[in-house]
Amino acid sequence: MTITPETQTTFVETLKEVREDFTRLMLSYQFGLDEITTKIRILRDEFDKLHSYNPIEQISTRLKSPESVVDKVSRKGLDPSLDSIRRITDIAGVRVTCSFTADTYRVFEALTRQPDVTVLQVKDYIANPKPNGYRSLHAIVQVPVFLSSRTVNVPVEVQFRTVAMDFWATLEHKIFYKYDGDVPAEVVQKLTESAATAARMDREMEELHETVHGPRDFAHVDRSIKGADISDDVVQRLAQFLAGPSLNPPDTEHLC
Ligand code: GTP
Ligand code: MG
Repeated sequence: MTITPETQTTFVETLKEVREDFTRLMLSYQFGLDEITTKIRILRDEFDKLHSYNPIEQISTRLKSPESVVDKVSRKGLDPSLDSIRRITDIAGVRVTCSFTADTYRVFEALTRQPDVTVLQVKDYIANPKPNGYRSLHAIVQVPVFLSSRTVNVPVEVQFRTVAMDFWATLEHKIFYKYDGDVPAEVVQKLTESAATAARMDREMEELHETVHGPRDFAHVDRSIKGADISDDVVQRLAQFLAGPSLNPPDTEHLC
């Protein structure tokens, strides 16, 4: 094929269009990630400020790079199109690290019962660990993102795991990379054993926590709310305003 100024112009225009479409698509994943992360942060902050117990230890997010999105499409043998990219459900990823195993399910439920969150897929590697011992609760959820002229439904992969599961998975991932996927059998065996140790630790720590603190009640709102940065004076004025002038404070300095 001869390259004429016309074909060159068409090529440049196609590149421009692809860049714009791809940028728009990737931006929608960033927004989906923001929506889900905000929801989980709200749950964490509510637990932290209003409840006596906060099950969320850490929240981390990652957006797949454009290179790895393109790599994944070709690795999966999908046609090179934006529709193929839309079939990849882990472009936006959130990882929620919880204190104990039961918390992973509770936070999953608190997120997925929200009316604008649709569960597309659940893989429960806690109930059914992978052969190497990997444990985590994976969910692909879809959330609407309201743009100026349209609404897009964006899939986000959310992984729920305990601190012990995260510790194991992070180090296993590093070892796996070091051997470029070809991990010697004895290392695989050791990793599987240490996954069992991490699972035992999860059980023991949860039991210990219950022995010391009793069963965790997620519905319970603690009356001694932490972090309320409101002065006694303002609370007193508000209480009088709400109750009317009949509420006369006793002659003490600190009432709250
Ligand atoms: P891909 O998304 O294409 O990887 O396949 P999949 O959807 O079948 O994967 P799956 O849902 O099982 O796992 C997706 C993610 O979970 C991975 O990208 C990792 O973050 C994590 N994961 C799954 N298995 C392992 C494992 O054995 N070790 C570690 N460290 N992480 C894992
Ligand atoms: Mg996946």
